[in-house]
Amino acid sequence: MSSALNKMTVEDFDVKGKKVLVRCDFNVKMENGVITSDKRIVASLPTIKYLLDNGAKVILCSHLGRPKGEVNPEFSMKPVAKRLSELLGIEVKMADDVVGESAHALAASLKDGEVLLLENVRFEPGETKNDPELSKKFASLAELYVNDAFGSAHRAHSSTTGVADYLPAACGYLIQKEIQFIGGALENPKRPLVAILGGAKVSDKIGVITNLIDKCDTLIIGGGMAYTFMKALGHNIGNSLLEEDKIELAKEMMDKAEAKGVKFLIPVDNKVGREYKEDTEAMIVNSDDIPDGWMGLDIGPETQKLFADAVKDAGTVIWNGPMGVSEWENFASGTVAVATAIAESGAISIIGGGDSAAAIQKLGFADKMSHISTGGGASLEYLEGKELPGIAALNDK
Ligand code: 3PG
Repeated sequence: MSSALNKMTVEDFDVKGKKVLVRCDFNVKMENGVITSDKRIVASLPTIKYLLDNGAKVILCSHLGRPKGEVNPEFSMKPVAKRLSELLGIEVKMADDVVGESAHALAASLKDGEVLLLENVRFEPGETKNDPELSKKFASLAELYVNDAFGSAHRAHSSTTGVADYLPAACGYLIQKEIQFIGGALENPKRPLVAILGGAKVSDKIGVITNLIDKCDTLIIGGGMAYTFMKALGHNIGNSLLEEDKIELAKEMMDKAEAKGVKFLIPVDNKVGREYKEDTEAMIVNSDDIPDGWMGLDIGPETQKLFADAVKDAGTVIWNGPMGVSEWENFASGTVAVATAIAESGAISIIGGGDSAAAIQKLGFADKMSHISTGGGASLEYLEGKELPGIAALNDK
């Protein structure tokens, strides 16, 4: 597996004694001010540690949630600073603002090997507008810029993209790792390459399906979006999710796959329920036999075998999106079966971020996967074959 990332990396910089602004994605899950998953903080440690070990003055920044350009204590980075201090074993200084007096004073007083975290970059109204004035203010805090926020690399914002116009700009280790795995799977996969796509809507995955049909050997569709494909084959789908305006497209995609010799698998049976409710009455029915008044909420046992079989001899598996309503135990077994098949396959396995990553963690399969992306929207856009602005903005090697 290889994917050439033609961008400067943190190791191309001489960082000793330099102030380095590092954009991380610390957009972590929180409940009542408490961090419930620190995965994204942990994932940014290799870059931060490298910089500290090499004598840099490290200035970290990130967004948290969507405070819409206003200072809102609910979205303060303070809990992140605390967790980061625990993980690094050193004090992480916390600025009271993003690019104001506090940030400047603390940045100026940093010694080599010290860390500062700025307040939430989205407290600044210019951030999401990629305002050049704000980008310049970010740049004025430091001498070098490192982007390691893969999860935000699809956002052309001041701290992810604009700032790279005003400072030497390189990527960190997390971005390198994400590109190595996801890019490697797309450009030079160990074959056969099997892509498994789930989730509720066809419309969310059109770009990914279109891009992957050109690259993979087998394309597997599960989850709520599978019912639009069943409808396209002329099946009755009862009350299952349907995107009426995507039926024609679903047909075209299946035809395209056939013309290209790509195996295109959709569920042959389903676990259907009476209502969209966790404890609803449920039964297993074939895909050409979903009765009126019932809705598909998971793939059925024959489909689990079919999908597991397709994964068994895969060289590479890319998986994005659950096979059913996996947060409900009653309708999680399709997602568990696919996760188990991937874990047992010995294939290079790449899990798209967001819901699929959360499902894998919850099911306890995380260490069995080669790579779980830290980016939800970003990994999807990358799988669609789009250029990510946060990476494109960095200096070429
Ligand atoms: C994410 O959680 O996907 C990233 O941090 C990006 O967040 P955003 O969708 O609010 O830009």
